[in-house]
Amino acid sequence: MSEPRSGVLYGVGLGPGDPDLLTLRAAGLLRSLEVVAVPRSERGTDISGAVVATFVDEARVVTLTTPMPVDATAVGRGWRGRVAPLIAALDAGRTVGMVTDGDPSLFSTFAHAASAVRELRPQTEVVIIPGVPSFCAAAAVEARPLLVGADRLALLPASRVDNDVMLAAMANADTVVLLKAGAAIDRIRSVLDGPARGWSVRYARRIGLPGEEHRDSLDGAGDDYMSLVILRRPREATR
Ligand SMILES: C[S@@+](CC[C@H](N)C(=O)[O-])C[C@H]1O[C@@H](n2cnc3c(N)ncnc32)[C@H](O)[C@@H]1O
Repeated sequence: MSEPRSGVLYGVGLGPGDPDLLTLRAAGLLRSLEVVAVPRSERGTDISGAVVATFVDEARVVTLTTPMPVDATAVGRGWRGRVAPLIAALDAGRTVGMVTDGDPSLFSTFAHAASAVRELRPQTEVVIIPGVPSFCAAAAVEARPLLVGADRLALLPASRVDNDVMLAAMANADTVVLLKAGAAIDRIRSVLDGPARGWSVRYARRIGLPGEEHRDSLDGAGDDYMSLVILRRPREATR
């Protein structure tokens, strides 16, 4: 089936930031979609700039400013008000997509936008183009697996959970990936200095972007939203 189709809202995963890590399908869509919505967070932490500039001419870009309220009702209300240009383009029969960093199914603004569009325009079909998730890109740089055999993974938005949740995840997993790590970096340090002593640490910041860093410790890590931490249980330890 040829893409893009009108009437469809495409959620296009951009990967971690390097245009080389885009899938061929995503690149093809970005080159041909008539309207490409680009979320711009109020924090100014977007990865999409370089990737979108490589594949999409400016005339096709619709910028959606995205405040980050924590309250779910406020998030839904905000997006219902923000997707009007996408709905107008879909109604006009244009081909429409929205980009998202990493993969669209992981903590992505696309999920909010897509549910707002479907609520207001229920006939809209949503198609998701997967992208390389940030933590897989971080593990690739270390050339070390996240999981092998019967290992278990916990994936948490660190700044949105408290230490008890982090510790419960560590009790039940062999690898714990902490996204949204910046604002929680001191709490992650305290967990590692206490109950999680001995776990290995991998810190990655701004993967595929200017200022990229990868380290085996949290030394010097600060409050950068575009950072993540991978914790691995020591191999000799048992659950
Ligand atoms: C809203 S979540 C989006 C996750 C994304 N959909 C994915 O698949 O990785 C944002 C978090 O992902 C992580 N992240 C996304 N892109 C990153 C990058 N280029 N470098 C480091 N961390 C990144 C950070 O932990 C950031 O706080």
